[in-house]
Amino acid sequence: MDVKAHRLEGRVAVVTGGASGIGLATVRRLAAEGAHVVIGDLDPDAGKQAADQVGGLFVSTDVTDAAAVENLFKQAFDTYGSVDIAFNNAGISPPDDASILDTGLEAWRKVQEVNLTSVYLCCKAAIPYMQRQNKGSIINTASFVAVMGAATSQISYSASKGGVLAMSRELGVEFARQGIRVNALCPGPVNTPLLTELFAKDPERAQRRLVHVPMGRFGEPDEIAAAVAFLASDDSSFITANTFLVDGGISGAYVTPI
Ligand SMILES: NC(=O)c1ccc[n+]([C@@H]2O[C@H](COP(=O)([O-])OP(=O)(O)OC[C@H]3O[C@@H](n4cnc5c(N)ncnc54)[C@H](O)[C@@H]3O)[C@@H](O)[C@H]2O)c1
Repeated sequence: MDVKAHRLEGRVAVVTGGASGIGLATVRRLAAEGAHVVIGDLDPDAGKQAADQVGGLFVSTDVTDAAAVENLFKQAFDTYGSVDIAFNNAGISPPDDASILDTGLEAWRKVQEVNLTSVYLCCKAAIPYMQRQNKGSIINTASFVAVMGAATSQISYSASKGGVLAMSRELGVEFARQGIRVNALCPGPVNTPLLTELFAKDPERAQRRLVHVPMGRFGEPDEIAAAVAFLASDDSSFITANTFLVDGGISGAYVTPI
């Protein structure tokens, strides 16, 4: 990757969900800016491959498991000597999470565990390491659906992302004077493999969403990764407790260009 900035030289970054999509693009970007990257993911093959590509570390992790999450951050600290950046990004968006009328309790709980409880566990594990050095940047992946409603509902997903947004804001405020910044990253719809496949099969479904994006396209994982690198770096030193929207203008739009 041709990255001119080297803002993260020697920093240690933990990335959950780093084996695919936004997480994978971010692993590459953070490494290109000089960070040691530690990937926590369920997928051992893709996770290990990604870590190998950037000379980083893969730790097999289910982010819903408290002991596994503690182990992930401990491994990062024991291997590289600090935890400077936590990108808590692993998340799911399963098809059985839809309208509230059709979504069962089990489907609801699964999404809450993976998308919201995991962020609680990761922040709880990361903050004590950051307190030791009075410095750290935590970026939690929420979504634009944390600030907007959709008639194409995924009720537990949206509620979980709203939770991530509120939790990040609160942590950002609580730990601001200890040098720890916490921000919620809110991507708009991004061209990850899942989305591309879904919309290739169903162009009408894609169009129903695209019409709301002022830029007229979905985001690319590299564009989200660039925002994470900014939030991770000292370039964003006065930004905390923030709702950081990277959404092609969706959340600001009423009538979009033809
Ligand atoms: N793609 C989008 O359009 C979009 C938009 C807004 C927000 N987001 C959010 O961005 C994040 C990343 O999304 P993506 O599109 O890159 O997804 P993706 O499916 O490409 O990658 C998610 C990664 O998380 C891992 N993962 C899933 N469950 C896990 C668990 N229990 N423990 C550890 N790892 C687990 C997967 O193995 C995978 O590597 C998610 O939180 C998602 O909700 C995505």
